[in-house]
Amino acid sequence: MVKTIEVIGVNKEFVIHHERHQSLKERLLHPGSGSSEKFHALENISFSVSPGETVGILGHNGSGKSTLLKTICGVLAPTSGEIKLRGNLAALLELGAGFQPELSGRENVYLYGAMLGLKRREVAAIFDEIVDFSEIGKFIDTQVKFFSSGMYVRLAFAVAVNVDPDILVVDEVLAVGDERFQAKCMDRIARFQQEGRTILLVTHNGDQVRQLCSRAIVLDHGSLVADGPTTESLKVFREYLHADEVTPAETASGQIRITSVTTPSGSFDVRTGAGVHFDVGVESAQAFGGQFVMEIFSRRGELISRSDAQATPVQLKPGINAIGIDIAELPLLDGVYEMNIGLLDERGQNVLAWSERAATLQVGSDGRERGIVEIAPSVTQL
Ligand SMILES: Nc1ncnc2c1ncn2[C@@H]1O[C@H](COP(=O)(O)OP(=O)(O)OP(=O)(O)O)[C@@H](O)[C@H]1O
Ligand SMILES: [Mg+2]
Repeated sequence: MVKTIEVIGVNKEFVIHHERHQSLKERLLHPGSGSSEKFHALENISFSVSPGETVGILGHNGSGKSTLLKTICGVLAPTSGEIKLRGNLAALLELGAGFQPELSGRENVYLYGAMLGLKRREVAAIFDEIVDFSEIGKFIDTQVKFFSSGMYVRLAFAVAVNVDPDILVVDEVLAVGDERFQAKCMDRIARFQQEGRTILLVTHNGDQVRQLCSRAIVLDHGSLVADGPTTESLKVFREYLHADEVTPAETASGQIRITSVTTPSGSFDVRTGAGVHFDVGVESAQAFGGQFVMEIFSRRGELISRSDAQATPVQLKPGINAIGIDIAELPLLDGVYEMNIGLLDERGQNVLAWSERAATLQVGSDGRERGIVEIAPSVTQL
């Protein structure tokens, strides 16, 4: 099988200098002082991507995602290992995107195009399309240092998608800009997928990964810890790696575990509009105050609902806790839905325990409504 991207045993080390003598004079007086240390940003990474695949890359801050994308696009050379690309262009789209602040939007479009290997007349041929897509309008001749972050990303995105790349590499830019433009970018990415182009997508937004990627890779401290179907990788990322996010003050992390999610009948078959009750078993090493949160997804990975954790505080006692959850009337229509549940800390900022795909809801509907949620209008005639 032909591969678009092959990453073979890639390592990337950065050398970090610890200067004891900071000023130039001091450094001249004490040459060779201070120490340097090697930092392993990527450790023996191997994977390959087939043509037309969209692969998500998940990992905490500093786990090596951007470094990996840069080595794939040839912006950084790996310290060892090899990267093979098929196709003529891999467009890297990242915040900053190498724009020169003093230059105008127009000049930066040509510069960015050149960086991606396009000739001036090739950029000229798609220039209007780029400006059109970016919705920058007359600001195209303004220095980009006066651009808002949204305008910046709009222009960079417009260039990256209009240069006809075989591989599109997106580093956390889909969350910038207003919602309407984000939706436009998502549509464009969907079109890229239909056209059979290969996409690598770094985002902290699990929902986007779920929606766009059939496969995801998880990096942790420079190592690849998961590579598989998105739901499996998200499970690794959210259930096993969330503890990293917990600040040291909350040492109870890792000592709280969701052990079971059950219903009295043993099944999650429910009817539209009916009440749902389920029990969550939680094992905790100590007493702890937290918040319960649940997420419901469609089979296609669209987030239908994430509950307001603040509205559902829970008090855990040491040992096994049984938490009963009630949904008064389930507004979902006919279909199969996935449910994730989790416990957050008291401030709702850190995940203490998580169960990805804790249950599958099978909803049956008696009515004639169609769609995902039940919305029942009433009619008043004057
Ligand atoms: N040029 C560099 N010199 C030294 N260290 C670097 C350099 N670039 C990245 N690093 C380090 O390598 C590690 C991985 O960085 P990287 O930017 O790839 O992480 P990331 O997963 O993209 O994080 P984030 O989610 O914050 O974007 C970090 O610890 C970072 O400090
Ligand atoms: Mg990054």
